[in-house]
Amino acid sequence: MAFDIDMIKKVYSKVVDRVDAARKITGKPLTLAEKILYSHLWDGNPNKAFVRGKDYVDFAPDRIALQDATAQMALLQFMQAGKAKVAVPTTTHCDHLIQAKDGAAADLKTANSTSSEVFDFLESVSNKYGLGFWKPGAGIIHQVVLENYAFPGGMMIGTDSHTVNAGGLGMVAIGVGGADAVDVMAGMAWELKFPKLIGVKLTGKISGWAAPKDVILKVAGIVSAKGGTDAIVEYFGEGARSMSCTGKGTICNMGAEIGATTSTFGYDESMERYLRATERADVADAANKVKDYLTGDDEVYANPEQYFDQVIEINLSELTPLLNGPFTPDLSTKAGSDMTAIANKNDWPLQVEWGLIGSCTNSSYEDLSRASSIAKQALDKGLKMKSQLGINPGSEKVRYTAERDGILGIFEQLDAKIFTNACGPCIGQWARYSDPKNAPKNSIVHSFNRNFAKRADGNPNTHAFVASPELTAAIAIAGRLDFNPMTDSLINENGEQVMFDEPTGWELPPKGFEVKDDGYLAPEEDGSGVEIKVNPTSERLELLSPFTPLGNELNGVKLLIKAFGKCTTDHISMAGPWLRFRGHLDNISNNMLIGAVNAYNMKTNFVKSQLNGEYDAVPKTARAYKAAGINTIVVGDHNYGEGSSREHAAMEPRHLGVAAVLVKSFARIHETNLKKQGMLGLTFANEADYDLIQEDDTFNFVDLNEFAPGKPLTLEVVHADGSKDIIIANHTYNDGQIEWYNEGSALNLIKKENA
Ligand code: F3S
Repeated sequence: MAFDIDMIKKVYSKVVDRVDAARKITGKPLTLAEKILYSHLWDGNPNKAFVRGKDYVDFAPDRIALQDATAQMALLQFMQAGKAKVAVPTTTHCDHLIQAKDGAAADLKTANSTSSEVFDFLESVSNKYGLGFWKPGAGIIHQVVLENYAFPGGMMIGTDSHTVNAGGLGMVAIGVGGADAVDVMAGMAWELKFPKLIGVKLTGKISGWAAPKDVILKVAGIVSAKGGTDAIVEYFGEGARSMSCTGKGTICNMGAEIGATTSTFGYDESMERYLRATERADVADAANKVKDYLTGDDEVYANPEQYFDQVIEINLSELTPLLNGPFTPDLSTKAGSDMTAIANKNDWPLQVEWGLIGSCTNSSYEDLSRASSIAKQALDKGLKMKSQLGINPGSEKVRYTAERDGILGIFEQLDAKIFTNACGPCIGQWARYSDPKNAPKNSIVHSFNRNFAKRADGNPNTHAFVASPELTAAIAIAGRLDFNPMTDSLINENGEQVMFDEPTGWELPPKGFEVKDDGYLAPEEDGSGVEIKVNPTSERLELLSPFTPLGNELNGVKLLIKAFGKCTTDHISMAGPWLRFRGHLDNISNNMLIGAVNAYNMKTNFVKSQLNGEYDAVPKTARAYKAAGINTIVVGDHNYGEGSSREHAAMEPRHLGVAAVLVKSFARIHETNLKKQGMLGLTFANEADYDLIQEDDTFNFVDLNEFAPGKPLTLEVVHADGSKDIIIANHTYNDGQIEWYNEGSALNLIKKENA
């Protein structure tokens, strides 16, 4: 059995007391999001009302999910913690590293050979430390989580931004960086700024060509790609209850596209049906006993303006199919003549080359069955495909059942390519072109979530539009971006004009789900004898060694780079081809700060070495200092480290001998990541001191032996001509974080405490 009913029952045994306590302390009825947050406090029973959008709070998530690209460094770090097992139920899912090219069987075979060392490593670590392992081909992480692990009222974190998909089953599920996941796996709390709350009231009922996807495409169009930042979006109302559980998952999934912390729905009958259909009747029974605690209070939904920071209302009965894009998921256009006008004005190609159905957003049984009802009509009405069609089922369970029920057969009769149950084109793993950079301008339609330039096929000229699976199927058959299936007809093989009827489908398979091998491997009860598989000559994986403490005698520290302007985690640790080295700290460190602009020459990746006076690449220069036993410092501007939460942006500098990062201001997650790696993350007490820093400067930390919470540090900056400046640097280290520094990293401290 993959899921853990005892853990779920434990959560439900506490929810009543904790939610009642939270109601008392806040003095008001509660939203579902608040109920889940207050019932997952690290300290147990609520004893304080938190300020939304302001207070940082420690939580105790119930579960963790990792995907193969991000799991590598997370698990390499976890191995450093000296724990025998993960502290909370965790699963690893192999879905990102599988290319879509020739079809499922051939593509899976290729992935299993090209990425075997990564898969073998993840499997052996999972086996040793008690993580469930989902093999390549088992499915896309978020679909597998929804089918097996998500449960109403639960809290989970995952090292992927679309972890939020599990909100479809009433969870608060949040995407995090690897460092956060490692903390929780090692038994520590997880910190989050108490989110703001956006309520979306859904009235009416979806019908005809409209789909749950159109709800979130509409919301994205209303609030924009940043509209949900630092907020949980909570959907409620009769419209919410009328949608399937996987439809709710689609809506929550794309909450990531409006920047929301997560999205969620209250427990209802659609969730109960889904739980029972996915062989979790015991979870449904347990949830039913506390169901009032697994949804928002009636008073909240009756007067939402009083309890949410923002309220949006959508009448589902008025919803029509939308296409969002190109290049951004929040640019909404109504299918049909609106699209004709806008596409012509913007010179978007109206001819569609490909329709792609799948991704973690829309790959459920219901999605495939509704899209296949359109494909079936094309066959019955003598229509020929005008573009190509590709399908990525969400899981082996969905694929097997859809094949049994003839759904995949219908697509295949239209010459569709059935790709592996994996991310494939959604994460750029689509071998569409031999030379994507010089590929032609074209349009594609897909049911995925993201459509940034190059996201699917690496071609900057591909205009990708996001739509529901059923509209994707219709547009792919018609071959035109502005095809409106509600009003437009097509000419069939006999020269007759035919129209599509409305899509139909099944929320859940009428004959139940079925699967032969779902691709799950349970870990050993006692993993102590399991050997971790890492080839010492591997260029993709490298076991980590603990960082040595920097100590409190930091003198003679040389300036590595003074970064000018924006310096995001992408500037510090670039993505793209470097993703290949995510599990190999030394190799990926060759991208360290190569995107940062050197303030002295305004060039990237070109800094002066004080060892020989020559200019060279940042990583090479840092390595030379490290070889000479000299620590370095990075100086930066405002909001240094904004962007993703990737821990590589802190681990690489630490690995290459950077002792301190001194900036005007930090993006908070990056600042914490630096602290976790046992480095100094400091800010100028006087921002203008940034201008005092010169290219050949040496830094002495004169009072680091008095490092204490709230006490600024003093830095003596020695310039090349021998003159000196004194700079005061602020920091936000608390006692525990100073311990991380003293021990060399947070993981070293955990290991010491476990010893
Ligand atoms: Fe995979 Fe794309 Fe979802 S990369 S996890 S299918 S957003």
